[in-house]
Amino acid sequence: MNILVTGVAGFIGSNFVYYYLSKYPDRTIIGVDNLAYAGNLNNLSNLSNEQKKHFLFIKADITKKEQIRTIFKKHEIDCVINIAAETHVDRSIRDPQVFLKTNILGTHVLLETAKKSWYSSGIWQNGSKFLQISTDEVYGSLGMTGLFSETTALDPHSPYSASKASADLIVKAYHDTYGMPINITRCSNNFGPYQFPEKLIPLLINNALNHKKIPVYGDGRQIRDWLYVEDHCRAIDLVFEMVFSGEIFNIGGNNEIENIEIIKKVLKLLNYATHDSKINENLIAHVKDRPGHDHRYAIDATKITSTLGWKHQVPFEKGLEKTVIWYLENRSWLESVISSEYMHFNECNYKI
Ligand code: NAD
Ligand code: DAU
Repeated sequence: MNILVTGVAGFIGSNFVYYYLSKYPDRTIIGVDNLAYAGNLNNLSNLSNEQKKHFLFIKADITKKEQIRTIFKKHEIDCVINIAAETHVDRSIRDPQVFLKTNILGTHVLLETAKKSWYSSGIWQNGSKFLQISTDEVYGSLGMTGLFSETTALDPHSPYSASKASADLIVKAYHDTYGMPINITRCSNNFGPYQFPEKLIPLLINNALNHKKIPVYGDGRQIRDWLYVEDHCRAIDLVFEMVFSGEIFNIGGNNEIENIEIIKKVLKLLNYATHDSKINENLIAHVKDRPGHDHRYAIDATKITSTLGWKHQVPFEKGLEKTVIWYLENRSWLESVISSEYMHFNECNYKI
């Protein structure tokens, strides 16, 4: 199997490479990333020497047809796991265009290249597969009850989620029209090592360590269903290995928490670990809400559990503890990814 994994230098992509090469030491990944602001090759620097022999990194942009075509040809790619994307909702509100380009057109470039490469004389190459990594945000927002299932209607609200929903529909169209062997996964909020510190958990850890205010959007009562990233990687692997094409799987931690609660938990863990008395709830600052802010996400993961036997394995409190320790032990990583562009975006985003 020659597997192309996109977005390998980002949060989920790098965690997936570690997971996959540990589980299948004899397989090889061709990893692609254009090293956009959230992509960082250092995220892969902890691969062992043996794993490095099974990992080839190529700097390439999924929106560039020629680059992708060359990679398919040269490396005889027969499977794709498309993890690359523009991923931050706040950035999509500020500047939607790159989201449409990468998430919609980039996905289409991969699909079309795969189709040309895998489909000859009306027959799909045996064993080929296109796995699209999507998000629960394509379903929109829930009230206080109910869960997102795979049959929930798509109702995205932000430019980010609209671009991901569009990509899902194009992937599905390639299955329905051409019979392309595809699967789509839609996961809830991930947390863990190597997450870019614009997302809630690493942002709040970074701010607290620097005694900076923690911006809580609106009343902070919004609910997310948090999942430790390694559990997401396990689910991606199971779906990738599965033979049935055209299936969509939701992935979630059965773990709904209000933002304000998670912020308090992280502050407590940080205070305990650092003995720094300035890290406390006084750092919390309520700011103007995110426009179009989805109130609640919650996943019904019955399908992946009953079909593939997947269930999250890392309890939330344990995962949070591991995450806080990782960021404390990797403060130099945090400092290295914080550029002036990052500071500018976060400081002019929601005024405290
Ligand atoms: P991330 O922003 O950390 O990583 C995205 C990676 O894609 C980066 O390395 C970036 O450089 C790369 N990339 C961006 N544009 C590219 C392009 N044009 N060509 C090649 N590479 C490009 O994001 P993440 O949190 O790791 O998310 C990965 C995927 O998982 C995304 O598709 C996202 O929609 C999905 N997802 C994320 C979460 C979450 O909570 N983080 C939950 C569900 C689904
Ligand atoms: O649900 C899956 C999605 O989770 C992924 O598809 C996205 O790529 C990923 O970014 C994430 O989206 P969210 O918008 O839920 O994540 P974020 O970390 O930006 O915000 C989590 C919640 O915390 C959300 O309700 C907004 C709130 N928030 C966020 C930040 C950055 C704050 O209150 N303050 C903040 O500073």
